[in-house]
Amino acid sequence: MSELALRAEKLDASDDLAGLRSRFVLDEVVYLDGNSLGALPANVPGHVEDVVRRQWGELRIRSWDESGWWTAPERIGDRIAPLVGAAAGQIVVGDSTSVNVFKALVGAVRLAGEGRDEILVDATTFPTDGYIAESAARLTGCVPRPLAPAEVPDALGDRTAAVLLNHVDYRTGRLHDLPSLTAAIHAAGAVSVWDLCHSAGALPVDLDEHRVDLAVGCTYKYLNGGPGSPAYLYVRRDLQDRFDSPLPGWNSHAEPFGMRSAYEPAEGSVRGRVGTPDILSMLALEAALEVWDGVPVAAVRTKSLALTDFFLECVEAYLPEGRVRSVTPVAHEERGSQIALRCPDAGDVMKRLIERGVVGDFRHPDVLRFGFTPLYVGFADVERAARVLGEVAGASVA
Ligand SMILES: Cc1ncc(COP(=O)(O)O)c(C=O)c1O
Repeated sequence: MSELALRAEKLDASDDLAGLRSRFVLDEVVYLDGNSLGALPANVPGHVEDVVRRQWGELRIRSWDESGWWTAPERIGDRIAPLVGAAAGQIVVGDSTSVNVFKALVGAVRLAGEGRDEILVDATTFPTDGYIAESAARLTGCVPRPLAPAEVPDALGDRTAAVLLNHVDYRTGRLHDLPSLTAAIHAAGAVSVWDLCHSAGALPVDLDEHRVDLAVGCTYKYLNGGPGSPAYLYVRRDLQDRFDSPLPGWNSHAEPFGMRSAYEPAEGSVRGRVGTPDILSMLALEAALEVWDGVPVAAVRTKSLALTDFFLECVEAYLPEGRVRSVTPVAHEERGSQIALRCPDAGDVMKRLIERGVVGDFRHPDVLRFGFTPLYVGFADVERAARVLGEVAGASVA
């Protein structure tokens, strides 16, 4: 056994989170794509079966009340809240991240008030955020300004209404400085909107502590909610009264069953709702979140950094120099929970890795992306992934 494999064994033996692995449905595959779709928590199928057969099949319409369907968006929002450093009552679950980006961004411009007509947008963002920012700008009479997150402080000014940023870059895994960027946005009198898709469940976010205004995120990556599971919207408590949603559906009405023709927004996080919640996905997510009971996010972060450090070390040991180039920052304070490696034949390399039982993903044009979910990825997985990558990539070079 190699020195790295021995180290991996020791690291796994002393890992306090190692026991959580048995709470997921896993197999022989090394699964490093939890930053795209998290693995299935073992309790979810039984719970979904109950939701379908008993709650829907037997109780039918009664379940909106008796099974807590109607209040699920806020209840599950409160379950996510501690994972992103938010007190209860500020997060509502529902719709996709894309839809919540729209609600948050238009809501942010409306909160910023008159005379501010620019939206600064992370130019390196996952494309949907950019498309929606462009449309939100057109609808609100603003100008969208794409720029790198590092350029935000200098670009802020009297005209800035809102700034849409990613906490972790989906392609490179770069972690942006949420505390200092949020402070700069506030100093300019603008409103911050953070996309937490690649950070929630992988590292501490501390929304309340840094007084983030609005935030959105998905639940199918590090929160393991399942394919297409509903996203969430955070509106800081003191902004809720002024939050003016561009999608004021009947679910966010102060009296949804009053069936009134005039819209009157509900109080609190409910104001972020739109229409009938997607109950099956939502309750699968609720069950998936049970795995987090008693798991400190700080411990998850510590393990995440240890996993990504170890992966970089193994890649260096097992691959010929220059074969791949990491585009993920080395500094811990700038790294999320993934490693992105550039290599010219990345698409082909990933295909062969997957054939050999190591699943990551390929991002156009030349990025191999590996996500490390600390709840179920171990150090032996990391060593094996790098070793197989060395074999596969070595073969490509020949
Ligand atoms: C950073 C980021 N924002 C938004 C999205 C899109 O989310 P959805 O398809 O749920 O709207 C993704 C999807 O992977 C993402 O990574």
